[in-house]
Amino acid sequence: MSTDLTVNGRAARVTAEPTTPLLDVLRNELDLKGARYGCGLEQCGACMVLVDGEPVFSCAREVGTVAGHAVTTVEALDGHPLRQAFLDEQAGQCGYCLTGILMSAKALLDRAPRPGRDEIVAALDKHLCRCGTQYRIIRAVERAAARLADGAGR
Ligand code: FES
Ligand code: FES
Repeated sequence: MSTDLTVNGRAARVTAEPTTPLLDVLRNELDLKGARYGCGLEQCGACMVLVDGEPVFSCAREVGTVAGHAVTTVEALDGHPLRQAFLDEQAGQCGYCLTGILMSAKALLDRAPRPGRDEIVAALDKHLCRCGTQYRIIRAVERAAARLADGAGR
């Protein structure tokens, strides 16, 4: 039994059982290690990826349910202004939760190119970050939005 899906713009056929968590398939079968396992309970956001552009907890989503859909992981953000903005702001300390945060930020900027602070906070609300860099993370998203408005690439 296999599942066909699109991952980061490329067709992928995976052989894991359809009930296997999408996160496990990404990491173990497709060697995409960016999304991380934190709680496994849809409580922390470390595993966040996009499915058809919407943030999804991949730890609890069975791969069979995304058959035929487009999955985007942090590996697709190479060159995206969000990455440089997070570096510029020194946003985040542990790095473990950042890949998930980046994906929710990407989904936000795709639908709201110049989000207000409240919109950013709401978009990142599902992510746990205990290192105290939340304000830097918000500033990084604002910085990326400004760079996109200046015509930087996505
Ligand atoms: S690992 Fe998926 S939400 Fe925590
Ligand atoms: S960046 Fe991981 S706890 Fe803040």
